[in-house]
Amino acid sequence: MMKKLWPHARPYGKWIAAGVACSALEAVFELLIPLVMSDIVDVGIKNADQAFILREGGLMVAMAMVSLAFGLGAAVFSSVAGQGFGANLRRAEYDHIQEFAFSNIEKFSTASLVTRLTNDVNAMQMTLMMGMRLLVRAPVMLVSALVLSIRISLRLSSVFLAAMPLLLIAVALILTRVGPMFRSLQEKTDALNLVVQENLAGIRVVKSFVREEHEKEKFAARNRDLKDTSLRAFGMVVINMPIMMLIVNGTIIAVMWFGGHMVFAGTLGDGKLLTYFTYISQIMMSLMMVSMMFMMLSRSVACARRIVEVLEERPAITDGGAETDADGAPAAVRDGSIDFDHVSFKYNSESPEWILRDVNLHIPSGATVGILGGTGSAKTTLVSLIPRLYEAGEGTVSVGGRPVGAYTMEHLRDAVSMVLQKNTLFSGTIRENLLWGDPNASEEELWAACRAACADEFLERMPDGLDTDLGQGGVNVSGGQKQRLCIARAILKKPKVLILDDSTSAVDTATDAKIRSAFANELREATKLIIAQRVASVRDADMILVMDGGRIAAQGTHAELMESCEIYRDVYQSQLEGVSIDG
Ligand SMILES: Nc1ncnc2c1ncn2[C@@H]1O[C@H](COP(=O)(O)OP(=O)(O)OP(=O)(O)O)[C@@H](O)[C@H]1O
Ligand SMILES: [Mg+2]
Repeated sequence: MMKKLWPHARPYGKWIAAGVACSALEAVFELLIPLVMSDIVDVGIKNADQAFILREGGLMVAMAMVSLAFGLGAAVFSSVAGQGFGANLRRAEYDHIQEFAFSNIEKFSTASLVTRLTNDVNAMQMTLMMGMRLLVRAPVMLVSALVLSIRISLRLSSVFLAAMPLLLIAVALILTRVGPMFRSLQEKTDALNLVVQENLAGIRVVKSFVREEHEKEKFAARNRDLKDTSLRAFGMVVINMPIMMLIVNGTIIAVMWFGGHMVFAGTLGDGKLLTYFTYISQIMMSLMMVSMMFMMLSRSVACARRIVEVLEERPAITDGGAETDADGAPAAVRDGSIDFDHVSFKYNSESPEWILRDVNLHIPSGATVGILGGTGSAKTTLVSLIPRLYEAGEGTVSVGGRPVGAYTMEHLRDAVSMVLQKNTLFSGTIRENLLWGDPNASEEELWAACRAACADEFLERMPDGLDTDLGQGGVNVSGGQKQRLCIARAILKKPKVLILDDSTSAVDTATDAKIRSAFANELREATKLIIAQRVASVRDADMILVMDGGRIAAQGTHAELMESCEIYRDVYQSQLEGVSIDG
């Protein structure tokens, strides 16, 4: 785990070293001050030497100042190192998440990834910051006080040396119990974040169903759960205290008992016994610091594991097996032909049922293909395999005569443009969003794409045209307008394959027809896959696929399917009736 995390701290190695050095020096000077003090008492006061007292007093002030300066230095260095480490770690995690395939993200859940990027990293950087001070100070104090107390009396120290293993066992016991609790604490944080994220993302739905009260309850429940878990975890940490105190006080009583006997027997001076108590309290203080530090460490181990899990997650889909063309450049997609060869697929590798079953399909380049089928019949799943959003479980999906895995992701997805069913625009202007399709598109090209997607009519009516600000997630445009902008964005890529997943569902029938005829004229070369609910949207296609329960139930032209496919005929009839009732 350290191996995975250390590279992100390494650039701050110098700061860490400086911070550790400062903390150690701070502790050393703090330990030296009592020595000067004892000189003042033993020599200065005893001899009534005022000059000596003033000189030593001055020395004490100077030492205190130096110690303060080192303390400040330690604080500054450890903050820089801690924050820098945190920033590096977040950056590495975020960059890695960008490589994830959908299936990777679904495995972690978005909310958990957010916690792992924020909360978990914060805990790690806090630990580094605090650890640099405490983990250095405490051992330095501990060792020096131990040495000094053993110098006073080895015999008396054996009492204390016997108590140490007890302390260690107690701490170890608590640590083994508290570790899993911290892990569950972070999971509860995930659960809370999930509620918040879903609620805020879907706030319009929440409001329209007047579900605020229900949502508040849901939040309260998770919040309570989080509170209870952290009370339990930190309660365990706090139990540490009384146990420590018990052992510490026991030790002090034992030292009093044995020390007292030694004083009576004349083997130990009474002044020495008093000094001995000062050191013992120092030793105990530092032991407590160390044990607290271990508690903190066990929390950050839980967090570190979660971060490393993300960093170690292998993207499910990579450019791994990319082929090259004859000239050595990465394989380019030659044309828009698409082949499915005995393709089966399921989202969850453990589930027994296939979502897509043994699909065979050949689509020639440039064809227009309509895809119909009931809800959940795996239409979206089928087309998601073409730009390799998911990887086929069995069989091969090919584009342009090569398996999709033979291309680099960039080449494949530049050639295959997909308008998702749940499409998204990002905050920024319309122009900025369209430029995702082609960063170098000219003004003319932008408008041409908008015309093809029938987005020009409403854009012309907007006061700022292409420079209209969309707001977060594109809230400033209607559902149908958003769909048309997403189509325009996809067209700008000048794809070899264009996939529209129910992308004109919110567009009126006349506009839908206009968009389709624009495709036929302007994207003649591209293979067009159109998933639709309305038969009218796919009627003129070269080929229509009827999906049913993860299989292609029938395929053919409109006329052929009317002849041969009962499902198709039924859908067609029912929609015709719909039209006649409407009209
Ligand atoms: N990300 C996912 N993880 C797990 N199962 C999924 C996922 N997406 C879809 N499914 C399942 O796969 C099946 C097919 O879903 P798919 O989205 O392909 O249907 P669809 O034909 O596009 O439906 P619709 O017309 O409603 O869009 C459904 O039963 C669904 O439960
Ligand atoms: Mg779908």
